[in-house]
Amino acid sequence: MPIRAWFPTFIYNEPLQKSGLTQLNLELAEECRRLRDFDVAGRRWSKKNYPGGYTSYASMNELHRFSSTFAELEKKFTRHVQVFARSLEMDLRGRSIRLTDLWVNIMPPTTAHSLHLHPLSFISGTYYVATPAGCSGLKFEDPRLDRFMAAPPKRTSTREENQAHITYPAEAGQLILFESWLRHEVAAHRVPEERISVSFNFNWS
Ligand SMILES: [Fe+2]
Repeated sequence: MPIRAWFPTFIYNEPLQKSGLTQLNLELAEECRRLRDFDVAGRRWSKKNYPGGYTSYASMNELHRFSSTFAELEKKFTRHVQVFARSLEMDLRGRSIRLTDLWVNIMPPTTAHSLHLHPLSFISGTYYVATPAGCSGLKFEDPRLDRFMAAPPKRTSTREENQAHITYPAEAGQLILFESWLRHEVAAHRVPEERISVSFNFNWS
């Protein structure tokens, strides 16, 4: 072949564990809602920055330090991040990875999360706790989009890897990992039941 692909972007998508997801998610959903009830500062911040929804991103973003439920999740996330980092061929010999932030997101109808990336970390991810049918997925943007300065538009039927965006469906029990520089967003939630997820960042030293 005269043409080869280089500099790929990788996204990891796996169930958190092989069994027990339904029970785990029921308990997690309850804990997330309890947190919302308790976290006055988070509700205040969300009112301004996450309209209609609740996120503990700016108030309680080290939940793994204060709750055994989230500390258990930290262990599970770490195992997946190690697999992902190995497949990205990152040299972590003599280095360690560490979950730095872990927070909860609850999206009622109309709440959206606009395009963003995760500074000060190298791998980020989201675990889905409650995903009612029809809820929004996680939409990633081609990181080279701003460099396609004079490119003509793509055909509507391009191969998947040539599309400018890819949306992963949000499915309870699934974990999605990506390199933290990869921009992503969640379109407005449009079904009555709440969409609940746990997001996190990893750094290394
Ligand atoms: Fe994010």
